Amino acid sequence: MKIKVIHGPNLNLLGIREVNIYGPMKLEDINKNMENIAKQNGFEIEFFQSNHEGDIIDAIQESLTDGTDGIIINPAALTHTSISIRDAITAIKKPVVEVHMSNVAAREEFRQKSMISDVVAGTITGFGPLSYHLGLISMMEILNQIKMAQAQQGQKQ
Ligand code: DQA
Repeated sequence: MKIKVIHGPNLNLLGIREVNIYGPMKLEDINKNMENIAKQNGFEIEFFQSNHEGDIIDAIQESLTDGTDGIIINPAALTHTSISIRDAITAIKKPVVEVHMSNVAAREEFRQKSMISDVVAGTITGFGPLSYHLGLISMMEILNQIKMAQAQQGQKQ
């Protein structure tokens, strides 16, 4: 099964950007760790980062045809503004896990509204790079359960 990880604006600057909030780890190292864990558990994983809202929407929509079974997304600042990302998530009808490195609930008021929290399977926030790790574990569990349910359905037919 295939998991797509989508990183939003400015996350390409992890390791340089506001290190006091997001820590010193680079995005490529976060991705490498996720890749190792996914592979150890028999999942395919691919990564996408963009600073452009439309490109993120395209990446979500492409999940309909590129074999993606579930999405892990950190929409970054677009979390708080993007109805289009919300609509794309709703449209594809696949499990999505929302991830944030910082504890958005403990930050500025404008970060406390997420446009997607109520249309995703769940949200993990505040654990730095570990948020992605936990997001991946959650997504693998969701997909395993879907697979088991499908197998049971198949046995009944
Ligand atoms: C973030 C939180 C957002 O408010 C912020 O705009 C980001 C990163 C996080 O991972 O903590 O860019 O999504």
